[in-house]
Amino acid sequence: MPKHFLMCRPDHFAVEYAINPWMHPESGANRDLAVRQWESLKAAYEELGHRVSLIDPIEGLPDMVFAANGALVVDGRVYGARFAFPQRAAEGPAYLRWFAERGYPTLEASRVNEGEGDFLTLDDVILAGTGFRTDVVAHQEAQEFLGRPVISLTLVDPRFYHLDTALFPLDGHNVAYYPEAFSPGSREVLRRMFPDAVLATAEDAEVLGLNAVSDGTNVVVNAEASNLQLQLKRRGYEVIPVDLSELRKAGGGPKCCTLEIRGEN
Ligand code: ARG
Repeated sequence: MPKHFLMCRPDHFAVEYAINPWMHPESGANRDLAVRQWESLKAAYEELGHRVSLIDPIEGLPDMVFAANGALVVDGRVYGARFAFPQRAAEGPAYLRWFAERGYPTLEASRVNEGEGDFLTLDDVILAGTGFRTDVVAHQEAQEFLGRPVISLTLVDPRFYHLDTALFPLDGHNVAYYPEAFSPGSREVLRRMFPDAVLATAEDAEVLGLNAVSDGTNVVVNAEASNLQLQLKRRGYEVIPVDLSELRKAGGGPKCCTLEIRGEN
């Protein structure tokens, strides 16, 4: 089943503030290289048969490339993002406008939430992260608006500040995750819900290997996550490694650059 993704070219990408432990403004980042790496991610999706739509990048919003944070779209309904840090605040309305202009029903969130950075949608439930960015009350707001059960999970390691840095759906029913990124209770929830999950190592997590995108057959994943790739291959997945090292300097990987548009309007 082809997917529909929204992406944002990193034309204004930079590391000029630090809102997560990956970001070092004093070292900066190479924008041209980031654009080339992003282009190869987009090409990988298109080669797999997925559709990619684009939102115009806005000057002064260096993190706007991380489209996953822009919204949560389920059944064609768009729950808007409300960013935790002022540096990214203007991205929320920009993404919401993109959807509103195309006729999608939208909801402006009343609570802080960073879109698909902290909401990952499976067939029967939505997994939602909290602890660093998204307010747990936003989980309830999303559940009410989308009519899907939302399961709250608590993140405890600042390097894995968004749910999508610690877990990704392999398909509609199973996930891969890094257990140590979660609180003891949330770890237990994950163990109960997903007894057959792929468990990633610290080495995989430390290269943002969990920030991957699976269509159920193919998994687009950071090239450096070698153990994870091996595990995925053993399970029969087709692995598509991508190099997004420049975007990782802002704390992002393939999934961060990718907002899934679920269900057309
Ligand atoms: N620099 C961005 C931030 O800290 C990176 C966002 C990465 N996106 C994601 N979905 N994890 O907000």
